[in-house]
Amino acid sequence: MTAPVMNAVIMDNPFTRVNKSAPFLIGDLSTLGLSFVPESLPHRESQIENMVSLLESAVRGTKPSNIILFGKTGTGKTSTARHVTSLLSEAVEGKISVSYINCQIYDSPYSILITIAQSINIRADPIPPLGWPLDRVYNEILRRIRESNKDLIIILDEIDKLTQKNGGDSLYVLLKLCEDQVNPFVSVIGITNNNTFIQELDARVRSRLSQESIVFNPYNASELRDILTFRIKGVVKEECIDPSVINLCAAIGAQEHGDARKALDLLRISIETAIREKSEKVRESHVLKARAKLETDVLRETVAGLPLHSKLVLLGVIVSREMENTQAFSGEIMENYRNICKELGFTPLTSRRFGDLISDLGESGLVITKMKNLGRHGRTRLITVADNPEVIKERLLEDDNLRAFRGIHLGKQARFAPYGDDSKPTASEQEEIDDILDARPDRSTDEK
Ligand SMILES: Nc1ncnc2c1ncn2[C@@H]1O[C@H](COP(=O)(O)OP(=O)(O)OP(=O)(O)O)[C@@H](O)[C@H]1O
Ligand SMILES: [Mg+2]
Repeated sequence: MTAPVMNAVIMDNPFTRVNKSAPFLIGDLSTLGLSFVPESLPHRESQIENMVSLLESAVRGTKPSNIILFGKTGTGKTSTARHVTSLLSEAVEGKISVSYINCQIYDSPYSILITIAQSINIRADPIPPLGWPLDRVYNEILRRIRESNKDLIIILDEIDKLTQKNGGDSLYVLLKLCEDQVNPFVSVIGITNNNTFIQELDARVRSRLSQESIVFNPYNASELRDILTFRIKGVVKEECIDPSVINLCAAIGAQEHGDARKALDLLRISIETAIREKSEKVRESHVLKARAKLETDVLRETVAGLPLHSKLVLLGVIVSREMENTQAFSGEIMENYRNICKELGFTPLTSRRFGDLISDLGESGLVITKMKNLGRHGRTRLITVADNPEVIKERLLEDDNLRAFRGIHLGKQARFAPYGDDSKPTASEQEEIDDILDARPDRSTDEK
C-alpha cells in the first residue's frame, strides 16, 4: 500500500493583500510621530524669540545664562529646545556642540557624564560604562571640550528626574562643570513639566540653574487646529480629511490640558484606522475609534506599572465581578485575593495593607469604591472595576508572576474556602466575613 500523499496547502501571502499606497496618503505618516522635529512650530513664536535672545551671546562666544523651560506635557518644550539649538549650531557653523540628555533614561552622574563626553567627540575612544572614578570622567570631559575648542550646550530634558534619584548629585556635578569651564563655555537648558521642581531645590542650586526661565502655556483648541493643519500638510490629500476630523482631534487635545502630542497621536491613529478600513476619507468616526484605542493603551500601561500585590488585588476585584457580575464586598474580594495568592504561591498581605491597596487602586481610577451601610454591623466597601475588565484582566495575565492564573477559575465556594493553618482569618476578619454573609444584597437593601 502506498503512503497517503499529503495535499500541499498553498498559502496566500497575507502581505500581498496590504494596500501598498493608501489612496489619500501623499507623504510619510511617521512624520506625525514622536521623533520627528518639525522645521517650524506655530504658536511658539514668543518662546522661540525669547530663547533666541537668551542664547544670542553664544554667537559671540560668550556664555549665555542657564535656562529652564516649564510647561505641561505636549506643549512643545522639547521640540522648541531642539529646534532653537539646531538653528544656533547652524549659525555658528558647528562651533557649538549640543548634548541632549533624557534624564528619565540617564540619571546617574556617571551615565550623564559619559553621554556628554561622547557627544563632544564621537570619534574619541569610548569611556567604559563602568569602572572609571567619576573625577576621571569629569576631567576627560574638560579635556575634550578644550581639545575640541567648541562651546557646549547641554539640554537636560525631564531635569526633575535628576533630583528624584541620586539625591541631586548629577545636577550638582553638571552645574560645577558650567562653572569650571568658562572658555569654551558650558551652559545648561533644563526642561521640566513639574512646576514645583525649582522651588524644591536647594537655594544655591536654584539660583545657579534657573537664571532664566521660559513658560510654555497649554495650547487652546484653535492653536491645536493650526498645528494639526500645518503638520498634516503634504501627508494627506486635503480633500480626503474632513475638517471636522481636525477640529475633533484639536478639541480632545485641548481638553487634555492643551497637549499637542495627544492631538497628533489621535490624528495619526485616525488616519491609520481609515487606511485599515479601506475608507476613502478620514472621518470623525475614525477619531472616536482612535480615542478608544489610545485610552485602552493608557489603561494597559497603568496596569502594567502596578506593584505585584496591587495587581493581585485587582485580579481579585475582576474575579469577584466575574462571579457575581456586579460589585463585590471588600471582604469577598479579599478572599479571592488570598485564594489567588495561594494558587500562585505568594504570601497575602494583611487586611490593613489590602485596604490601602484598594484605596490606591481607587485613586488611580482603576476601581470604584462605594461605602455600604450594614446597619448594626457598621459599614463596608462595595468595590467594582471601573472600566474594561477584559482588557485589564488580559494585561494582568501577561505579567510573568500572574501568568499561571490563566485558565484557573475560582469557584464561588472558593470565596470562603477553608484556610490553611498558616492563614487563619483574624477575629476581626472573621467578623467582617460573617457581616458580609449576613448582608448579601438579597437580604439587605440599605445601600447608600
Ligand atoms: N507648535 C507646534 N507645532 C508643531 N508641532 C508641535 C508643536 N508643539 C508641539 N508639537 C508636537 O507635539 C509633540 C509634543 O511636543 P514636545 O515633545 O515638544 O512636548 P513637550 O512639552 O516636550 O512634552 P513633555 O513634557 O511630555 O515632554 C511633538 O510631536 C511635537 O512635534
Ligand atoms: Mg519633552
